[in-house]
Amino acid sequence: MKVVVVGGGGRENAIALSAVSSNNSVYSISHNNNPGLIGISKKHYKINENDKEAVLNVAKKIYPDLVLIGPEDPLSNGVSDILISQKFNVFAPSSKAAKLETSKSFLREFMKYHKIDGNVESYSFTNFDDLKKLVLNLDYEFVLKPDGLTGGKGVLVQGFHFNSKEDGLSIARKLFENGVNKLLVERKLIGEEFSLQALVYNDKLIFLPIVQDYKRAGENDTGPNTGGMGSISFSESGLPFIPENHVEKAKAIMRKLVELMHNEGTPYFGPIYGQFMSTKDGPKLIEVNARFGDPEAINVLDLMDDSIADVAIKLMEGGLPTLNIKNQINVVRYIVPIGYGTDPMPSKLKVDEYYLRKKGLKILYASVDKKGDYLRQTRSRSLALLARGNSLSEIIPKFEGIEKGISGKYYYRKDIGTFESIEKKTSFMNSLLKN
Ligand code: AMP
Ligand code: GLY
Repeated sequence: MKVVVVGGGGRENAIALSAVSSNNSVYSISHNNNPGLIGISKKHYKINENDKEAVLNVAKKIYPDLVLIGPEDPLSNGVSDILISQKFNVFAPSSKAAKLETSKSFLREFMKYHKIDGNVESYSFTNFDDLKKLVLNLDYEFVLKPDGLTGGKGVLVQGFHFNSKEDGLSIARKLFENGVNKLLVERKLIGEEFSLQALVYNDKLIFLPIVQDYKRAGENDTGPNTGGMGSISFSESGLPFIPENHVEKAKAIMRKLVELMHNEGTPYFGPIYGQFMSTKDGPKLIEVNARFGDPEAINVLDLMDDSIADVAIKLMEGGLPTLNIKNQINVVRYIVPIGYGTDPMPSKLKVDEYYLRKKGLKILYASVDKKGDYLRQTRSRSLALLARGNSLSEIIPKFEGIEKGISGKYYYRKDIGTFESIEKKTSFMNSLLKN
């Protein structure tokens, strides 16, 4: 089968790896010279993946059996729409169905209208004065979110990014002054987060194991939110600090969303991703992404023995395939430029793949450009390293000494997936749920 993969990050490298695993030919399209994609693609097209006409032209040359789209931007820029309109087999939502992600206020209103569990108290504003009136009357801590795509980096949380209501208001005022059209004020949730991903076709869903993304830039979950510094999955065992019934409730919420989209004439196709917070009042849906998560895709696709391309085709032909999932644990750590999350300083990296693979690590390249024998970093994440095993004590040592395999200036979080970090999350959740 010929499979086109759109996008040039670590998630797309993982999607392409999964797609080629059953002898499919992958053709990749990305703005960057991603060596991971180039290495496994029959042909790599270095074009802007958000340019729908350019992507369509490539698709017309290849006539693929399937198109997989990784990031959200091509969806909102009409890449899926144009390919669907030309009758290509696209396993990704239309821009209309992707509204679940592209407009946070749409999701909140949709959930409220249909009385779907797990919604969060949320108010949207197009001017500062109305927002101020509400905030001054709040008797709980809040978060500020620009409506629209922010790559997980636009949310400002009271207690982390600002302390008092006044500080929050002055940030909100500046955001409006800087051209943000709509701002959401939401109740701040307390708990641990988990990502629930599923493969969807119309009203059918296949759930994948839950993952936790370590979003903060700094060790011990400090510093600004990022696109994700790394992630952990315990496969079908769930996460040790997330109650099983919260996962079941989260699945029911996602199922309801997908079924309603279908019944209302905006059927959803492709991977979907619910970002949940497990709170003392049950799981709350923070947001929906109309795509796989990055890095979460890297965990689930590594655990899946089936090729994503084969599963997508079976689903699109009306089947409901059972997945073969490894019952193991995996940990992903992203190598990022120094200052990532605030003021990234891209530099050059040299990667000794042989050394890293020998340590038992899988390498997924992200937002880098290969130039000769080195990689040029961008302001975004550079490469992901994944280790899998039967226990954390088997996995964590695989990351030790990676400096010998990657030279240059970079940063990564060393606490991702450690026993201590999981213990801390578990005792926090135990005390939260007890009260
Ligand atoms: P989002 O872009 O909506 O996924 O939010 C990015 C991150 O901001 C989430 O993963 C949370 O860590 C945090 N966040 C978003 N909304 C809330 C909320 N209502 N309460 C607490 N944290 C939040
Ligand atoms: N890891 C968060 C996201 O993909 O949105």
